Amino acid sequence: MALFGSSTRNVPATSAVPRHVAIIMDGNGRWAKKRLLPRFAGHRRGVETVRETVRACLERGIEYLTLFAFSSENWRRPEEEVSLLMQLFRRALKDEVSKLHRNGVRLRVVGDLSRFEPELQTLIQVSEQRTAANEQLILTIAANYGGRWDILQAVRRMLISQPDASGEWSESDLAPHLAMSYAPEPDLFIRTGGEQRISNFLLWQLAYSELYFTDVLWPEFDSAAFDGALASYQQRERRFGRTSEQLVGHSPATLSPTDSRIDA
Ligand code: IPE
Ligand code: IPE
Ligand code: MG
Repeated sequence: MALFGSSTRNVPATSAVPRHVAIIMDGNGRWAKKRLLPRFAGHRRGVETVRETVRACLERGIEYLTLFAFSSENWRRPEEEVSLLMQLFRRALKDEVSKLHRNGVRLRVVGDLSRFEPELQTLIQVSEQRTAANEQLILTIAANYGGRWDILQAVRRMLISQPDASGEWSESDLAPHLAMSYAPEPDLFIRTGGEQRISNFLLWQLAYSELYFTDVLWPEFDSAAFDGALASYQQRERRFGRTSEQLVGHSPATLSPTDSRIDA
């Protein structure tokens, strides 16, 4: 069994502050275009928003922050933009990891890293190892990540891990093999930049996340805008399939297992 089950099987405990926030950081290019700057200037400015968001999460006691930095589809962009994004990722790892470490942040990178330059792969490994004992905030960067890739690699690993199984697989057989099995599923998903789509981000894990879309472009998504998303989250009623009446006077964590489990 994974450390954290899927919310379609178990109702997770919820609280006013989300434990896990996952963000599609979109709108860098448009931010730059509005200022007649090259797209890359938007990406560079976006790194500052990452810093501010990490700080906000630390201050608000959020345990997991997951950021979509580069999708498996982003290789389709012009070669120059892809190469500048890789450079920026390398630079950010070199410049930021000490500060993350000082602040008790554990860095993890998920995605198919095999497509990255060996130097970048090593840098990722070293940064992850250096911060491995930190627990204040788990910061996950999704890089060359795709939700379908994740499910497929999990299926492959599941089949390899139990070659003799009869084929009666359940969610809890698969979940431990997903790239982010170390984290609870996101409570709150945010996408900046105005588009209302998932773009192959965490497909499995977003099954019961609260979705928040904002027109604010990522470089302008400051801590006040982040608080706006958190305030919206606090207004939501997370039912996980149950009725509103069942929730009155109960926190999901206190409902009996027969109320809260589908297939217990
Ligand atoms: C998101 O900003 C950053 C990455 C995908 C790397 P975009 O570059 O997609 O910005 P827009 O959507 O063109 O404004
Ligand atoms: C999604 O943004 C990926 C990241 C933010 C890394 P895109 O801007 O690439 O998404 P689409 O292609 O417009 O859906
Ligand atoms: Mg975009």
